[in-house]
Amino acid sequence: MAHIAIIGSGIAGLFAASKLADAGHNVTVVTKKRPKDSSTNWAQGGIAAILDKTNLEGMESHVQDTLRSGDGTCDEAVVRSIIQEAGERIRDLIRIGVEFEKEGDGTYSFIREGGHTTKRILHAKDATGKEIERALTSYAKHHHGIALKPNTLAIDLIQRHHGHPEKGVAGVWCLDQDTKEVVTLEADAIVLATGGVGRLWKQTTNPDVATGDGLAMAYRTGACVDDMAYIQFHPTALASTSARPFLISEAVRGVGAVLLDERGLNAWQNACDSSEKHGDPMPSPEPYSFTLDYTPEGSMATRDIVARAIDQQMKTLGTTHVHLITAHLDLPWQEKFPTIARRLEEEGLVLGKDPIPVVPAAHYMVGGVRVDEIGRAHLRDVDATMPHLYAIGEVACTGMHGANRLASNSLLEAVVYAERVAKHLIENPPETYDGNHPKWRADGLEELKEHAPIIHDRTSLVATMSEEVGIVRSNQRLKRAKRRLDLLHEEIDMMWENARPTREIVELRNLCLIGQLVVDDALSRPENRGLHYNVDLIKDGMR
Ligand code: FAD
Ligand code: SIN
Repeated sequence: MAHIAIIGSGIAGLFAASKLADAGHNVTVVTKKRPKDSSTNWAQGGIAAILDKTNLEGMESHVQDTLRSGDGTCDEAVVRSIIQEAGERIRDLIRIGVEFEKEGDGTYSFIREGGHTTKRILHAKDATGKEIERALTSYAKHHHGIALKPNTLAIDLIQRHHGHPEKGVAGVWCLDQDTKEVVTLEADAIVLATGGVGRLWKQTTNPDVATGDGLAMAYRTGACVDDMAYIQFHPTALASTSARPFLISEAVRGVGAVLLDERGLNAWQNACDSSEKHGDPMPSPEPYSFTLDYTPEGSMATRDIVARAIDQQMKTLGTTHVHLITAHLDLPWQEKFPTIARRLEEEGLVLGKDPIPVVPAAHYMVGGVRVDEIGRAHLRDVDATMPHLYAIGEVACTGMHGANRLASNSLLEAVVYAERVAKHLIENPPETYDGNHPKWRADGLEELKEHAPIIHDRTSLVATMSEEVGIVRSNQRLKRAKRRLDLLHEEIDMMWENARPTREIVELRNLCLIGQLVVDDALSRPENRGLHYNVDLIKDGMR
C-alpha cells in the first residue's frame, strides 16, 4: 500500500486521513503543534449544507448566494458540484462522530449568517469547529492506519528530480521540534492541508499556526498560486487588549444583532431613554446602523461589504472599533452562544445586554495553491498538474469562493475536496518512489545566536501588511509595501542560508513570501472585486 503524508490536522487533513486509512493506506499526519491547534478548532458559525439532494430549490439558492458573495468570479461548476456533494460529506462527518445541534423534534438545527438568504448552516452551538476537531482527532488517534505526529513542522517539499517540478514530489523535510533535528519524511504522495495565513496581520481571528507554510512550500517547489489579493477580513472580531484573538460569530448577526458606530449608538441610546420614559418597548437599533448607508442588507450583507463599511466608518469618525448591539433581542444567549458569552464575561461584558466592541480582522485566505477538480496542485506557468502533490482546505484555491467567500462555505469545501483527493488516491495508488531522498542541507549551519532580528523582522512585516495591505488599498501603499517586503525578503534569506531552522525563522520566511505574493497580486489587478478594493481603481463607488 502507498504511503501518504498529510501536512496539517484540521478538518481537511484529518478527514482525508480517515478516508485513506479506512481504505488500507498508511498515512502520516504531521502537525506543527498539538493536533487540535488549527483554525478548524476555532470555527464558530458552522458548515453550510443542504442535506437532501432532492431539495433542488434549496441547493439552487445556496449556489446563488455563493455566486453573489463571490462577486461574479466563482467557478460556477465547482460551486454546484460542492453544494451537491454536501449532504454525503455531512453524513460522513456524522458517522465519524460529529454531533450537530438538533431541534426539539430531532431534526437538525440550521442557522443563518451574512450573505445567506436563508437558514442553512449546521452547527454545534457556537463551537462547531471544536466539535468537528474533537471527533476527527479522536478517530485519527484510534486508527491503526494513521500515524499522527505532533510538534512536527514541515519546512520544504522534496522534489523527485531537483529543479524539475514537473516530475513531482517525493517527501518533505520536517523539523522535529522535540529533538530539534530535521528529518526526511518520505512519501508516495503529499497532501497539503496547512490552512491559512491570518498571522500576517496584527488584527486576526486566526490561531498562531496560521502562517501560510504549505502555500509557501508549494510555491517554492513550482506550484501555481492564485487569487492571493483576496484576503477576507471578518467584520466582527472582538476588539480587546488581550493578545488572544476572538471572533464574534456572524451567527450573532444572523439572529438579529446590529452594527452601530459611535454616532448611531448615541442616537439609539437616546431613543431607548425616551421610549423608557414613555413606557414604550425598546426601539430596534436597525435604523441607526451605518451599514444601511452602504447596502440595503445592512449588517447582514456579505463580509467584503460589511468589513469595508466598518473600516470606512472607523476612519471617518477616528474610532478604533464599532459596536455590535444585542440588547433588543430576547434570546437564551447562554444556551445558544455559550462560548461567546463566556469570553465576553472575561471582558466584563454581558451578551444580550452590553454593546460589544468589534473590529474587522484578517480571517480567511481565499486564494491559495491552484488545484483542479480533484485537488491536484497545478504547476506554475505550465498547463499541467504537479505529480503527487495535492492541496485541500484553506491552503487550496478551488474557484469556489471567487473574490469573497460566503460564510460557512469553508468547512464544506475542505471536507468535499478532502474526500476527492482520498478517493483519487485510493483509485489510483501512487507508484512508490525508489530514488534518493536528499538529506537536509545541514552542513555549516549554525544555531541562531540572537533571536532579536527575527522578532524585529516579523514585527515589521506584520506592521507593513496591517498598515499598507488592509481592507482598503492604494497603489502608493501597495508599492511602499512591496519595497519593504523585498528588503525584508533579502535579509531573511541571508539568515535562512546560514542558520539552523527553528519554528520562528521557518514561519518568518514563509510569511514574508506570502506577503509578497499578496502585494504582487493586488498590484496586478485591473479592477475592484469582492475583497480587493484599491481606491485608485474606483469607477462606480463602493462595491
Ligand atoms: P486548519 O484547520 O487551519 O488546519 C491547518 C493545520 O495545518 C493545523 O493543524 C496546523 O498546525 C497545520 N500546519 C500548518 N503549517 C504547518 C507546518 N509547516 N507543518 C506542520 N503542520 C502545519 N469556516 C466555516 O466554514 N465556518 C465557520 O463557522 C468558520 N468559523 C471560523 C472561525 C474562526 C475563528 C476562524 C479562524 C476560521 C473560521 N472558519 C470558518 C474558517 C475555517 O475554520 C477554516 O478555513 C478551516 O477550518 C480550514 O481548515 P484546514 O483543515 O484547511 O486548516
Ligand atoms: C463565523 O462564525 O462568523 C465564521 C464563519 C466563517 O468564517 O465561515
